[in-house]
Parts: sequence; structure tokens; C-alpha cells
Amino acid sequence: MSVIVVVGAQWGDEGKGKVIDFLSQQAHMVVRHQGGNNAGHTVVVDDREFKLHLVPSGILYPETRCVIANGVVIDPKVLLTEIAYLRQRGVDVERLRISSKAHVVMPYHTRMDALNEERRGENKIGTTLRGIGPAYMDKAARVGIRVGDLLHPEEFHRRLEVVLEEKNHILSRAYGVEPFSLEEMYREFVGYGQDLAQYVADASLMINEAIDGGERVLFEGAQGTMLDIDHGTYPFVTSSHPSAGGAAIGAGVGPTKINHVYGVAKAYTTRVGDGPFPTELSDSIGSDIRERGHEYGTTTGRPRRVGWLDAVVLRYAVRVNGLAGLALTRLDVLDGLDSLKIATAYESEGGVTQQFPDTDGELRAVQPVYETLPGWKEPIGAIRKREDLPQAARRYLDRIEEVVGVPVVLVSVGRERSNTIPLREMF
Ligand code: GDP
Ligand code: IMO
Ligand code: MG
Repeated sequence: MSVIVVVGAQWGDEGKGKVIDFLSQQAHMVVRHQGGNNAGHTVVVDDREFKLHLVPSGILYPETRCVIANGVVIDPKVLLTEIAYLRQRGVDVERLRISSKAHVVMPYHTRMDALNEERRGENKIGTTLRGIGPAYMDKAARVGIRVGDLLHPEEFHRRLEVVLEEKNHILSRAYGVEPFSLEEMYREFVGYGQDLAQYVADASLMINEAIDGGERVLFEGAQGTMLDIDHGTYPFVTSSHPSAGGAAIGAGVGPTKINHVYGVAKAYTTRVGDGPFPTELSDSIGSDIRERGHEYGTTTGRPRRVGWLDAVVLRYAVRVNGLAGLALTRLDVLDGLDSLKIATAYESEGGVTQQFPDTDGELRAVQPVYETLPGWKEPIGAIRKREDLPQAARRYLDRIEEVVGVPVVLVSVGRERSNTIPLREMF
């Protein structure tokens, strides 16, 4: 029995939802431990598409228990809408539990996110405008509202009164926008508390009991390593820890309980939002991959920026997460290309480096050093074994393993659960 963490190895949208759904058939429990509804995880089962933002991707297996742990920031309205959407589509959500310690995304967070981005103008981060950054700011500033608070109306009223006074002051004085009404917000959120009460639990206790009881527990990362607030391309990052260490803090589990960490990576690279992206393609190959891969954000619908596979980024992800292997998705999107490129190193005036730059300045100065490999013509979506892949696709996988230094443990060749080539036992 084991405990695994699955993280994004690039800039998010790597196909974590698809991979986690596939692995969930073997898991007893699936846990989300960071991020919020900035995440959009797509799962396709028998032509039915599910877009999940807060509920773990394990929810589609009727036996798998799902937990939203303390490290997640929850917009209760979004969560209740997602629960209703799943119910309406015949998915049982009674197995969902939410940590009382998870912080709540409040309306002033979403408002501040938009106002901050507007004020930054050209220097904007390109956030998802879901209030995620401001919610984590309040958590760190120790003025956050937690899910558990919503269940204690009197205490919640006292806390909200203090916090909202400050928020309204900033909103009206600094931004000249309408303040929020305390009583309206109070009533609205007490209502959410009542609706969510049946799901609220001591999540850390539940998860630890499951692990100690020998269950298979899967931690579902959101975003990706390069969006990590410490290890990503700061300041163009999110405000949580998508890298593997975030799972321990974000779920109240000791790091010693985690057995393996895997990274999910696309067979190329995408990024949505602003910030550096060394292998970005601004030519017709980039737009071609965007169109054939429908590379538009799950959460915001924004076109994703597209580039070649970056092995420097993936080696960095191996380092900061301790990855035991890679789940490589969207290999089918590359069908039909004459040739493919992999960035194996970066070059700058200082010479060639194998390591991801330590500073933003260095990162901006580098050019990728590419290796070119042959493409394949035939569609691979129906293939279920590595040895049945076209020779050029096998060569591409072999070369990725060589330059990244970890095995490819799973290959995804389509959106459907069944479009999957498992290569190694991951639990
Ligand atoms: P996540 O945020 O990492 O869960 O990824 P998203 O769901 O935001 O974006 C990944 C997109 O790729 C979704 O639309 C998936 O259905 C789709 N997808 C996942 N794996 C594959 C694959 O192997 N091939 C293709 N064509 N699409 C895939
Ligand atoms: P999943 O889990 C891709 C990006 C935003 C922006 C930056 C900060 O689906 O992979 P935020 O709203 O978090 O303050 O935005 O992070 N971003 C994502 N990009 N996938 C995601 O989630 C993302 N969540 C946030 O585009 O660049
Ligand atoms: Mg996504």
C-alpha cells in the first residue's frame, strides 16, 4: 500500500486531471492539498467531459473517497455549484470531505485580484482572477476566514466585521470602488456554511488514519512546479506550493508518509498567463499545435502559449519535487509533425548550462539549445502498448527518459480514460 503525490511538472494544465482519474481506480482516497478554483482539471469518461475546479478528480470512481484539505482556498459558491453539477450528472458526492482549516475565498479577494491586475497594467501576472492570491495573502497575514468559521455564526460575524472594515477602507479609499455590506456578506456566507456543513471534517486526521490503515492515498497537485511561489518563475507564479512539498503542509501529513512523487508533463510545453517561457513558439508550428490540441484554458478559456518540450524545466521539476517518473500526456497531439524539438540545455553569453537558471535575470537571457528528432505520421490514439507506437514516437520517449533522467511511467494518447498506456506500477 502506498501514498503518492502527482504534481504538474511544467506551468499547469499538463493533464493532471486525466492522469489522476486514471490512477484513481486504484486509490482509496484522493486529496487536493493546494490551490483553489484557479485549477481546471478535465476528465473524459465515455465521451462525457467533466471539468473540475475544486473537487478531486477521484470523484468519478464511486468507491474513492475525496478530500479537500487545509492547504486549498475554497470559494464556497464555486464549490457548491460544482457539487450540484456533479450530482446533476449522476455523480455521488457524499464521499467528499472538506477541511475546516481550509481558507475561504471571499468576494473582496476576487475583487482585489481584478483591481490589482488592472493596476499592474503591462506588468500584470495574468492571474485567473479567482481571488487566489489575495486569499493566500490574508492567510499569511492571519486575517483569513476558514471553512470552520462559517459554521460558528457569532464568531464569524465578529471576525468578518474586523476584516471587512479594513477591506472596505482599502476598496473605497485606494480604489474608489463601492464597499461591501457586512450584513449581506455575513448572511450569504453563513448560508454557504450551512450547505457545506455535512462535508466539513478534520481532514488531516482522516487522511492520516487512511494512510495508517494501509489505504492507497493519492495527492492531486494543482497548477505546476513552474508556478510554485518559491520554485517557479516568480513573480509570474501562483500563491501556493504546487511542488511536492506542498502536499505535506497542505494536508497535515508528515513527509515521511509519502512513498513516491510523479510529475505530469505534456509531450510539449504550454503556459497560460504572463511570464518567461524559453521554448515558446511564436510561429505557425505553435499555432498549429494550439489548434490541433485545443489549447485553450479550462478555467478562463484563454489561448495557451505553446512551445517545444523543455528538458531543462523537467530536470528542474525532478530536482525540486524528487520525481520518480513522468506521466507524459498529449503525445497524440504531435501526430503528423515532420520533426520535433527538445530543449536539452540553455545557452547565454556565459556559455551553455544544463541547469534551470536561479534568477529571473539569467532566465530572461537564455536561448534553448535544441535537439531535433523525427516525427511520425500515423495517429497513435488507439495504441495501448509502448512497443506498438511508431518507431519515431518510441525514440522520442527514449530520448526524453535519457535527457530528463527519470523513466516515463505512463503515456497518455488521448483525452479518454481509455487512451492510456500504463508503463509501470505507480502506487
Ligand atoms: P490539468 O489542469 O493538468 O488537469 O489539465 P487540463 O484539464 O486543464 O488540460 C489538459 C487538457 O488536455 C484537457 O482538455 C484534457 O482532456 C486533455 N488531455 C489530457 N491528456 C490528453 C492526451 O493524452 N491527449 C489529448 N489529445 N488530450 C489530453
Ligand atoms: P491547473 O491546476 C495553468 C496561472 C495563471 C497565472 C498564474 C497566477 O488547471 O493546472 P492565479 O490565479 O493562480 O493567481 O494565477 O498562475 N495558473 C494556472 N495555469 N493551470 C492552472 O491550474 C493554473 N492556475 C493558475 O494563469 O499565470
Ligand atoms: Mg487545468
